Amino acid sequence: NPSLPKPVRIRLDVTDPAIIKLRAPESDEPGTRVRVLGRVHRLRSQKDVIFITLSDGYGFLQCILMGDLVKTYDAMTLTLETSIAIHGEMRAVPPKQHAPNNRELHADFFTVIGRAAGDKEAITNRVSADSDPQTLYNNRHLVLRGETSSAVMKVRAATLRAFRRTFEETKMLEVTPPSMVQTQVEGGSTLFSFDYYGEAAYLTQSSQLYLETCLASLGDVFCICPSFRAEKSLTRRHLSEYTHIEAELDFITFDDLLEHLEEVISRVIGYLLEDEQIAQYVKELNPDFKVPQRPFKRMRYSDAIDWLKEHDIPNEEGQPHQFGDDIAEAAERKMTDIINQPIFLTHFPAEIKAFYMKKDPQDPRVTESVDVLMPGVGEIVGGSCRIDDWDELIAAYKREEMDPSPYYWYTDQRKYGTSPHGGYGLGLERFLAWICGRYTVRECCLYPRFTGRCTP
Ligand code: 4AD
Repeated sequence: NPSLPKPVRIRLDVTDPAIIKLRAPESDEPGTRVRVLGRVHRLRSQKDVIFITLSDGYGFLQCILMGDLVKTYDAMTLTLETSIAIHGEMRAVPPKQHAPNNRELHADFFTVIGRAAGDKEAITNRVSADSDPQTLYNNRHLVLRGETSSAVMKVRAATLRAFRRTFEETKMLEVTPPSMVQTQVEGGSTLFSFDYYGEAAYLTQSSQLYLETCLASLGDVFCICPSFRAEKSLTRRHLSEYTHIEAELDFITFDDLLEHLEEVISRVIGYLLEDEQIAQYVKELNPDFKVPQRPFKRMRYSDAIDWLKEHDIPNEEGQPHQFGDDIAEAAERKMTDIINQPIFLTHFPAEIKAFYMKKDPQDPRVTESVDVLMPGVGEIVGGSCRIDDWDELIAAYKREEMDPSPYYWYTDQRKYGTSPHGGYGLGLERFLAWICGRYTVRECCLYPRFTGRCTP
């Protein structure tokens, strides 16, 4: 904007007083002289004093301007989001007054670095339920400056750390499969396709098939990569691009898989909540969050069908549910909300699941498959044991009318020392929507991609 003045150059090489980041409790000792750099997050002007809540992405600091400082042009025209350097002295907050981390900075000097236009206040600081969602998505870059969005992003980063820590402890190796592929995993209808040097290629729906090929030489593996789904409908839990946490384990039974999943989810929640700052964010975002009790409830698909019938929750055609029906999002969510605890929903019929799932030896109508359902969101994990027999896999391609040739490298695993194995994929944004109590997964990623939105 040409009407905005040029930013002031500030000397970052000057060492006195020291620049501090607003992580608590750094240089909090009353009397310490410091320099802070950040943006005006809140502003309250009185006749002789200006209160600024400064934010630098690490934390908040109440800064107080008094005396001659208040009478300057810069102070009188200060706007929210203006970036600023303030020099001053740390003080304890007077009794009965409140400030973040119970500290404040009494300024003796400040410089405006980059003035903010002052027209988008409502977006960053006062996002209300009645704000138009499209306006919020268009201004996501500013919405992210708000306390709610930034708290979710911090919980997200902590969740990624917690998963990596858990996988490290369980001796699983991180790999990075490609995003550009020539095979589908979860059905052709949600594939994003593109031209790859004259050949058809897709954005990956899941890295599962690649993870399976790693077992022989790397042992149990995981990846945290984007997955892409050309979802046609707008729902609150479907994105076109999401962060997929996937794992694959060798030489396991279906029970091993369920136990591993319960252990991983429980440890991740434990690590999140043992961090005081993260626990505080979770509490503010989702005051009702309850750590799930172990063991998690296990329910077979056929029992879920009975449950839905008994509770008069119809299928998508408005008819009572029957064996073989896909349990649609609305029904699944209703059931999860009523039961109100995590559910391991297992043993789905082969016809409604992906081609690679292993049949249950006790009941070949169903597969060794699991969806993990969480209150408020529904499915956050999909997993299964994989077909490990060559003939059975070939028959599965045929059943699904898939050409087996592009899958030669996947099929080969059954030819060169096959093994009973299985794994799962967890949608990070859905996990976060559950933990942080968000209405939609769109609030749980930096810049959501969904039907019709690829900006900013
Ligand atoms: O159930 P899905 O489709 O399973 C797979 O992709 C397996 N191949 C994973 C594996 O076994 N390695 O997806 C797994 C999870 C879902 O439970 C959900 O949390 C998330 O991925 N997910 C989505 N999240 C956001 N937007 C979408 N469009 C999603 N589709 C799936």
